[in-house]
Amino acid sequence: MKNKKTLGAALLLSSVVFSGASMAGGASAEALSVTCAGCHGYNGASTGPATPSLAGMSETYISDSMKAYKSEERPSTIMSRIAKGYDDDDFAKMGTFFAAQKMHMADQSAGNKSKDGKKLHKKNCEKCHSEIGTEASDDSGQLAGQWVPYLKYSLEDALDGSRDMGKKMMKKLKKVHKKGGEESIQALLDYYASQK
Ligand code: HEC
Ligand code: HEC
Repeated sequence: MKNKKTLGAALLLSSVVFSGASMAGGASAEALSVTCAGCHGYNGASTGPATPSLAGMSETYISDSMKAYKSEERPSTIMSRIAKGYDDDDFAKMGTFFAAQKMHMADQSAGNKSKDGKKLHKKNCEKCHSEIGTEASDDSGQLAGQWVPYLKYSLEDALDGSRDMGKKMMKKLKKVHKKGGEESIQALLDYYASQK
C-alpha cells in the first residue's frame, strides 16, 4: 500500500514537471510573463526599489538582458538562475510583452532636482539615453523613472568592472566619476529620481 502511494506521488510529480516543461516550449507571451510579475510587478511596473521596472523598454534590450543573465556575462543576484529556465524564443516573447506596456515612472519625489545632474546627463549620457533615458528605441534601458537604488547598483557594477555596458559608455562614466567622484554619480541619480 505504502509503495503504491509513493508511486502515485512520483507519477503526479513527473506529470507536473512535464507539463511545466511543455508549457515553457509553447507558452503565450502573457503566460510566460506572469511568472515575472511577482517581482517586476503587474505589467512590468515594479514596486522597487532594487527590482527594476520592465514596462516599455525595448524588446531587444529585454531579450538581450535575459541572454546576458543566462550566460552569466551580466552579474545578478537572482536573474541568472531565472533566465536559465528559458530559451531565446521565450526571451523574445517576454521582451515583446513588456515592450508593449506603458513605461512606468516611479514616484521618487524625495529626489533632489539636481542641476549638476542635468548638466552631467546632457553632456555625457543623453546621446545614448535620449529623452533622459526613456526612449525605448535606444536599446539602453530606462533611466528617468527607473528605481534609483537599482540604477545605483548597476552603476557600481559598471564602475567595478563586473558589468560591461560597452566601451563608449564606460569611457563617459569613468570620466564623470574621475572628475566628480561619488558626488557626480549621486547628482545623476538625483536627476533621474526627480523625473516623473
Ligand atoms: C525573484 C524575483 C524576480 C523574478 C521572479 C524575476 N526577476 Fe527579473 N530582476 C530581478 C532583480 C532583483 C533584478 C536585478 C538584477 C539581479 O540582481 O538579479 C532583475 C532584473 C531584470 C532585468 C534587467 C532590467 C534592466 O533594466 O536592465 C530584466 C530584463 C529582467 N529582470 C527580466 C525578468 C523576466 C523576463 C522575468 C520572468 C521570466 C523575471 N525578470 C523574473 C528580480 C526578479
Ligand atoms: C555610447 C552610448 C552610451 C553612453 C554615452 C552612455 N550609455 Fe549608459 N548604456 C548604454 C548601453 C548600450 C546600455 C545597455 C548595456 C547593457 O546592455 O548591459 C547602457 C546602460 C546603462 C545603465 C544600466 C541600465 C539598466 O537598466 O540596467 C545605466 C544606469 C546607464 N547606462 C547610465 C549611463 C550614464 C549615467 C551615462 C553618462 C555618464 C551613460 N549611461 C552613458 C549606452 C551608453
